[in-house]
Amino acid sequence: MIIRREGPGDRPEILAVVEAAFPEPVEAKLLRELFASREYIPALSLVAEAANGEILGHVITTRGWIGKANSLGLGPIAVAPGYQRQGVGSALMHATIAAANGMGEPSLVVLGSTEYYPRFGFVPADSMGINPPDPSWGSHFMALALDAYAPGVHGQFKYSEPFNHL
Ligand SMILES: CC(C)(COP(=O)(O)OP(=O)(O)OC[C@H]1O[C@@H](n2cnc3c(N)ncnc32)[C@H](O)[C@@H]1OP(=O)(O)O)[C@@H](O)C(=O)NCCC(=O)NCCS
Repeated sequence: MIIRREGPGDRPEILAVVEAAFPEPVEAKLLRELFASREYIPALSLVAEAANGEILGHVITTRGWIGKANSLGLGPIAVAPGYQRQGVGSALMHATIAAANGMGEPSLVVLGSTEYYPRFGFVPADSMGINPPDPSWGSHFMALALDAYAPGVHGQFKYSEPFNHL
């Protein structure tokens, strides 16, 4: 398996993986909108590809903000049901973090399972002074300080526009 940027022609297969991984169509709709948004970042839309060329998983990270400061919002991430819990998601997460560090980005946030994301270093976002757009998200809203993190950037996180359509 390799992790690489999404390439031309990958999107139908990526969307099929996302539709298979999530029971509801919400995430696939969000992903379509993120692909079309101004906040789309080509270097942060990554696929996991098997040796036979099959796409096993995908993760996207788009521009977000803490107040006026740049940050990043991760998600959706999806692994094809037949390949889950075999390390594909972890490989996508590590590749995203490495790519974001390489770009000099300061921070990455995610809304998701408190069982999954802490293993990659995510902590409750409020412990870093980053507040969720919706207070009810509580500890499910997590953040990761990247190499260029500047303590003191506090405030409410703003996702890219498509997240407002959820
Ligand atoms: C969540 C998801 C992306 C993880 O990818 P994956 O390839 O299955 O995960 P990995 O194999 O890298 O898992 C690493 C570890 O996390 C655990 N894990 C996997 N999915 C998990 C989940 N949803 N919740 C909690 N732990 C999870 C695995 O058991 C494994 O633990 P271990 O190392 O102790 O054995 C994938 O399962 C998926 O697509 N799920 C459906 C869609 C979804 O829920 N997306 C995330 C929304 S927040």
